Amino acid sequence: MSTTSADLPTETLGVVAHGAGDLRVESVPLRRPAASEAVVEIAYGGVCGSDLHYWTHGAAGESILRAPMLLGHEVAGTVLRQADDGTGPAAGTRVTVHPATPGGNVPRYPAGRPNLSPGCTYLGSAAQFPHTDGAFTRYAVLPARMLRALPDGLPLRTAAVAEPAAVAWHAVARAGDIAGASALVVGSGPIGALVVSVLRLAGADAITAVDVHDYPLTIARQLGATATLKADATDAIAAVDADIVFECTGNRHGLESAIRGATRGARVRRAGVAALAFTVASAVLSTGMQAGTARTREARPDKTEPVKEVPKNA
Ligand SMILES: NC(=O)c1ccc[n+]([C@@H]2O[C@H](COP(=O)([O-])OP(=O)(O)OC[C@H]3O[C@@H](n4cnc5c(N)ncnc54)[C@H](O)[C@@H]3O)[C@@H](O)[C@H]2O)c1
Ligand SMILES: [Zn+2]
Repeated sequence: MSTTSADLPTETLGVVAHGAGDLRVESVPLRRPAASEAVVEIAYGGVCGSDLHYWTHGAAGESILRAPMLLGHEVAGTVLRQADDGTGPAAGTRVTVHPATPGGNVPRYPAGRPNLSPGCTYLGSAAQFPHTDGAFTRYAVLPARMLRALPDGLPLRTAAVAEPAAVAWHAVARAGDIAGASALVVGSGPIGALVVSVLRLAGADAITAVDVHDYPLTIARQLGATATLKADATDAIAAVDADIVFECTGNRHGLESAIRGATRGARVRRAGVAALAFTVASAVLSTGMQAGTARTREARPDKTEPVKEVPKNA
């Protein structure tokens, strides 16, 4: 299969967030690929919590829409046209997409973690301006380095979950040794459910999932949760006394439950993203709990400190 630039459509259908409550499926220009870019025919896209935030609030955490932006960073499809420079998968290859581009030459971020670099961009993210368009489009022009060939037999529909699954793998990996631990997962949406799944594979002994609604808890049980609790069962959450806690709601009530359900010295990881600015009592932090995850910084156990978000993608 070979498609020249001249064969490519000049427009494609896309899902564009124009502002809070204003989401449109409309025709958008399909730019000509640079030498290092491929064209992918998108088959499936997963709707992330962040996409919903842009749609319903016009913002995801501190990333605020200032101009219309194509949504979508959880996608899978087939390469229609390989990059001209010969890099990346050939036409016809089924792929998923790594949606991050590390920032340029900036000095302050941990070695080996370019995802924390200031200026890091993400498909379908308003963290920077101009915003970075996403890939909820029929055709997407993408850097070849973003493409990951899929194993034979993995359906494209399933492959669309690769990005949130990677978020869950990353969050669990950063929590250290899981084998034999008791884990609490607060929020059982897609991210929390995938965290439950990865925890089970990583050998957690007990996994308690929490949510406001019954349906996400049913999914969590199917994926390996050994117990489930409703979010208002505060005493039962406190009694979990977990070694490792994952906050996967993105709201302050979820964070409160995460702290409540942690044992002394527990590891608490936040995957949820939200514009939060509030104070965590020193009495709680002085239990020696380690807070922080993918997208948050370490909380200091020695003092009361406001918890703030840092740019996404840890
Ligand atoms: N760190 C990352 O790289 C990363 C990547 C993707 C998404 N996220 C963030 O993770 C969070 C979760 O993502 P998602 O796609 O699963 O979102 P989602 O909104 O689909 O799921 C959140 C779940 O939390 C539940 N919930 C809400 N309040 C709760 C509470 N107080 N206690 C218990 N459960 C509660 C909801 O009922 C829902 O089931 C979002 O904030 C999203 O922005 C982070
Ligand atoms: Zn996502």
